[in-house]
Amino acid sequence: MKVTVVGAGAVGASCAEYIAIKNFASEVIILDIKEGFAEGKAMDLMQTASLNGFDTKITGSTNDYSKTADSDICVITSGIPRKPGMTREELIGINAGIVKMVSTSLIEHSPNTIIIVVSNPMDTMTYLVHKATGLPKNRIIGMGGALDSARFKYRLAEALGAPISDVDGMVIGGHSDKGMVPLTRLATRNSVPVSEFISEERLEQVLQDTKVGGATLTGLLGTSAWYAPGAAVSSMVQAIACDTKKIFPCSTLLEGEYGLHDLCIGVPVILGKNGIESIVEINLSTSEKAHMQESAIGVSATNKLLTL
Ligand code: LAC
Repeated sequence: MKVTVVGAGAVGASCAEYIAIKNFASEVIILDIKEGFAEGKAMDLMQTASLNGFDTKITGSTNDYSKTADSDICVITSGIPRKPGMTREELIGINAGIVKMVSTSLIEHSPNTIIIVVSNPMDTMTYLVHKATGLPKNRIIGMGGALDSARFKYRLAEALGAPISDVDGMVIGGHSDKGMVPLTRLATRNSVPVSEFISEERLEQVLQDTKVGGATLTGLLGTSAWYAPGAAVSSMVQAIACDTKKIFPCSTLLEGEYGLHDLCIGVPVILGKNGIESIVEINLSTSEKAHMQESAIGVSATNKLLTL
């Protein structure tokens, strides 16, 4: 199993680190445009191998795509991250050109690869990769919902005073402050609906805190977060590499599912060796459907800013 991570910034490096620590891939290539940077990150990570007990071989490369040849999975983290006060949508101008160039270069060397898109605005960048590469829809997956759901579970556990492992919940919709749809109705503590434990007002606070999860961290850190994004990507890579068939909310091209067309947005999917094995259509309440519709309008508006 060969995995390429494009972008050796904090998210890319954290993603490579978690993939290595989980020890399921034989090889990880990290690629970056900054001279020597990916090589440095790869060497530093390799020097943790004996300490952290992994055998994954991590190699860095300065923009040499031939090193990525025959990757099974490629992760695109390239582009600029947001600064405090910025929305993910504001990054579109710079990141669209980068993501287009990166995705076509990857496909040239790995025509059968599965691509995971992390760069923001993520749903629109995932749509752009479809338009730029023409790959089948099961092989282009946007990472947003896995991260947003992890942040939702963190906030739920905090509100419930429960261990995070006791809590389950999912966020669908666009990966944006306004577009996320945390499914509070379906969230549970050990299979009991969370509404049995906390008030509607507290649950509404959880929902609001979840939606600005990334922005809160950007305010604290001065740039966007990396540990949880890296961990979310590595879990998706593992599900594909190990063909686990686990459900993750991911951004995928919708062609009528959830009543939506011609956009990529977060919905539950089954991940396995083919990438997206299937889209899971769950019954949404009237208000969840309305939020999903609103979220789709936002994503489509950002997609219109692309020059395809
Ligand atoms: C975040 C970035 C990865 O939400 O979009 O932290």
